[in-house]
Amino acid sequence: MLDLKSLGALSAALQKLDAGFQRLPEFSTQVSGAERLQEVLVATAEKLQDNFPYFHPLYAGQMLKPPHPVARLAYALAMYINPNNHALDGGRATSALEKEAVAEIAAMFGWKEFLGHLCGGGTMANLEALWVAGKVHPGKKILANEQAHYTHKRISGVLQLDFETVRCDERGRMDPEALENRLNKGDVGTVVATLGTTATGSVDPLAEILALRDRYGFRIHVDAAYGGYFTLASNLAAAAKQSFANIDKADSIVIDPHKHGLQPYGCGCVLFRDQGVGKLYKHESPYTYFCSAELHLGEISLECSRPGAAAAALWATQQLLPLTVGGEFAMGLAAGREAALQLFKKLEGDERFAPAFEPELDIVVFLPREASKERASAQSRKIFTAAAKRDLHLAVAELPQRFWSDTDFAAGDSAETITCLRSVLMKPEHLEWLDPIWDRLLQAHSDSLI
Ligand SMILES: Cc1ncc(COP(=O)(O)O)c(C=O)c1O
Repeated sequence: MLDLKSLGALSAALQKLDAGFQRLPEFSTQVSGAERLQEVLVATAEKLQDNFPYFHPLYAGQMLKPPHPVARLAYALAMYINPNNHALDGGRATSALEKEAVAEIAAMFGWKEFLGHLCGGGTMANLEALWVAGKVHPGKKILANEQAHYTHKRISGVLQLDFETVRCDERGRMDPEALENRLNKGDVGTVVATLGTTATGSVDPLAEILALRDRYGFRIHVDAAYGGYFTLASNLAAAAKQSFANIDKADSIVIDPHKHGLQPYGCGCVLFRDQGVGKLYKHESPYTYFCSAELHLGEISLECSRPGAAAAALWATQQLLPLTVGGEFAMGLAAGREAALQLFKKLEGDERFAPAFEPELDIVVFLPREASKERASAQSRKIFTAAAKRDLHLAVAELPQRFWSDTDFAAGDSAETITCLRSVLMKPEHLEWLDPIWDRLLQAHSDSLI
């Protein structure tokens, strides 16, 4: 984790930044408490030790990926200015960086013309997309996969829009037949297609949803907060590949640079295909927008103050690792997916485990093979704890038991769930660490039987 060399790069960049303001008269900064700064910082470090080692390849649990060093450093560099991307008055340079970086993300999805910006994260981005959806189709319902992120229901509640779920298939993808049955009843304004569900990385069948849009006329919002960057990956299976290939036909897209885009938290992104939705944001702000007649990002976003530092970090990362098919960034995503496929194959070939289904992205869900659902759930929790004691950090999830079609307990009520193990292999390093991960998993399985 320790990367002292990069602090040298920050120092050089800070000198460059400082040089841009040299004509200002000297002044002495009043930093209260400066004499205890180091002591307090070290105390903060001590507090921060109480974390799981998210940066290490043996952390293979939740969706947590360390930011790229250039993102950390560019963020820290920008903090010396602390720009606010709400208005050009508060963040001129970083607003320009945001517009550039967001245009690169839109281009990754095949959009040259669009409206979009950064925001606090996936929840905020989806809130904005569904807010627009509600304005375009007032009083109509929002539908999403029953495996969609839980915040869609909550957001719909906040926006006072009716929300309903659509049944998923045995692989966690929205079932187009169930969607059509619901569409036949009418009153649907927007369908949320999740390209990369949070629990299993399942990819909703976008091409089929688009075909239904042609017949039933509704808005499509793609929640690709997690999966969006897999648009660039070279090793997706046919179904997922087809969904990502159709993403440009959606009405809006959400993607989280703070998930797979190597950014610190506080970096989501929402994009709209129709720039005309910009008029929905129209508001009076008598105390901002003075310095320029150019577009201020606050004029097209729900949030007011936003960190310009997030835009600086994203821009710098994309300079270093452009969003191109076959590029270094894309290869990192493909490595995580390959790690997930290899883990799936190991689990499939081992009589001690039952993986649910082949991963579509880089998330694997699996059970210890047990005679009953209750025992499999209990053993999952025990393995989770035993693995953590061996420094292997997994996650647990509560998922429909019908995801395990080859077990005795697969049948039963479709609402019934089982506690399983879940591993998000989102770091490129996971591929070369697969053997140590597997060894520890087997040891944890043995420990759980004691
Ligand atoms: C598919 C999906 N949508 C939305 C979200 C919410 O994003 P955030 O946690 O950035 O608010 C998540 C988070 O995991 C997600 O996986």
